[in-house]
Amino acid sequence: MPLDNLLSQAHKVLETNWRDGFTIPTDKLYPFQWNWDSGFICLGHQFMDIGKAIQEMNSLFSGQWENGLLPHIIFHSENEKTYFPNFDFWETEVNPGAPTKPKSSGITQPPVHGFILENLLRNNPQNEEILAFANYMFDKILNYHRFLYTYRDPFSEGLMYIFHPWESGRDNSPLWDESLNRIHIKEGELPQYHRRDTYLADPAERPTSAQYDRYVYLLLLGKKYQYDGLEIAEESPLLIQDDMMNAILIKANEALIKVGKQLRKDTAEIEEWQSQSLYSFREKLWNEELGMFTSYDLRSGEQIKHKEIGGIIPVFAGIPDSQQAEKINQYLSELHDRGYYLTPSFDVDSQLFDSKRYWRGPVWPHMNWMIFHGLNDYGFKDTAAIVKSDTFEIVEKFGFFEYYEPDKALAAKLVRGYGGGLFSWTASSIIDLIHSS
Ligand code: GLC
Repeated sequence: MPLDNLLSQAHKVLETNWRDGFTIPTDKLYPFQWNWDSGFICLGHQFMDIGKAIQEMNSLFSGQWENGLLPHIIFHSENEKTYFPNFDFWETEVNPGAPTKPKSSGITQPPVHGFILENLLRNNPQNEEILAFANYMFDKILNYHRFLYTYRDPFSEGLMYIFHPWESGRDNSPLWDESLNRIHIKEGELPQYHRRDTYLADPAERPTSAQYDRYVYLLLLGKKYQYDGLEIAEESPLLIQDDMMNAILIKANEALIKVGKQLRKDTAEIEEWQSQSLYSFREKLWNEELGMFTSYDLRSGEQIKHKEIGGIIPVFAGIPDSQQAEKINQYLSELHDRGYYLTPSFDVDSQLFDSKRYWRGPVWPHMNWMIFHGLNDYGFKDTAAIVKSDTFEIVEKFGFFEYYEPDKALAAKLVRGYGGGLFSWTASSIIDLIHSS
């Protein structure tokens, strides 16, 4: 399929998913506005209608809390009942600083918005509307980062923690298994609830019910402490410094510093965070044996030793030194030689690898977008080109899905991708990758 055909299909996906002022990730399965999805979605909108990119980000930040938290879901419609956990289960009114409208969840997601803002500004340098937008959006994003450094870094290391797998954006990754297994739920301890996702997507591609119970348990733990209480760090069985979240935060800090300087804002606070975060990240999260970065389990006091896609994302933030980056590049090119589409989300040689269950193996186009740019910046042009052409190939062959089979031999027997269809960030990643050709 020629690229302009792919491009016009991608445009259609974003148009179809546009609601009044924001874009849903996909119909039915995810009927609201998601935090990091929206960031990536702006990338696509900017090439079609810059006003929509601005509206998208404004709608998202209309759900920001007084403490700076940017929630992982904004429930713009209170009538939409096809999603669990909905706003009535989150009950964010337990925190007086949570807006009453729009309603939201009480946890966050990867803070991509700094580098998205920088991207919009870079691609539209003379646009007055974007400049005015950047001026106030800078302050909101800064406030969000301040929340992460204030409430999520109890030991002042410059590394933020997550207490719920959904915050990582990689909800079902095996990285969280050990922490989730620490949660023992007694009969009747959880309120009755009804999942909706397994009606809307193939249960084999979704989390199991034991896992879901633990997600609910952690949600309730957050609620017990108004979602920002210090007790969360004391009590949560899952307390992790996620490599990808922190790499994204570092990338977004760097972008904010750049934008701030352009707009003549004070960036001293961000620069201080940044030098500490970079130092701690490099000291604490690299694992020489794996040849990759790892996430750190604050409960066990150990790295979580798996080759997982979050360990690759630091290339996007300029974190690895040249030898470390070389190892990561090597890992990717070997996977390519072995017949995998780049980039499997989990170690294909691990027993925990599951090529179709989400975040336990499949390929995700928006992850490839970050990896492509990271590899390019380090000068690994060949591997970057493979990441890009694989992304084009899977979307051309299997459609605009949420995630994809990484094993080419298995994929050859399939006619579609996995999870939700007509997926927004898949479309956006394609649009931006085509424009960066
Ligand atoms: C899934 C993904 C998460 C994403 C959401 C909406 O929950 O794991 O990262 O934000 O879907 O697309």
